[in-house]
Amino acid sequence: RFPVVVLISGTGSNLAALLAAERAEDCPYAVVAVLADRDASGLEHARAAGLPTEVVPLADHADRAAWDAALAEAVAAHRPQLVVLAGFMKLVGPALLEAFGGRIVNTHPALLPSFPGAHGVRDALAHGVRITGCSVIEVDAGVDTGRILAQAAVEVREEDTEATLHARIKAVEQPLLVDVVRRLAAAS
Ligand code: GAR
Repeated sequence: RFPVVVLISGTGSNLAALLAAERAEDCPYAVVAVLADRDASGLEHARAAGLPTEVVPLADHADRAAWDAALAEAVAAHRPQLVVLAGFMKLVGPALLEAFGGRIVNTHPALLPSFPGAHGVRDALAHGVRITGCSVIEVDAGVDTGRILAQAAVEVREEDTEATLHARIKAVEQPLLVDVVRRLAAAS
């Protein structure tokens, strides 16, 4: 199966969806390792699945370039064909991009190019949009500027908070991400 390394920073619900979908006999990909930039609670999903995990914190490195190089090396050790940023909250640097350019995807909780960055849900809510959603993109050197691979829309409700809206976005985001990874794996 097409080897995938997943990078997370948070609760890892998108990672859990990728792992659950993997149980299907016809699933064309396999998550082979999960890496994080902090002791993310989502690493538990990886441990429960018996997958190798590694934490590569920025603070343990002299500067961003050293961290980026260490992260690229840690990812490369698992020889992935695809790197999935599933709630990875740091910008990846040139070392990772050089090693895996065109083979890194990111999931983002807004309809890009609107509301890029770390607070896609909060920013959409603050702007007052009536429709938002999520995007799966190819990662390039910019902040959420890469080619859009898939999107899904979610209606904003009058009573929404960042948490309630994000929960409904995640419900459509998870199957969307699984579908993109399956598609990329099947096409390889
Ligand atoms: C997801 O909604 C993802 O789109 C977002 O973090 C959440 C992680 O949830 N990513 C970003 O905002 C990246 N800029 P999860 O840890 O439950 O998968």
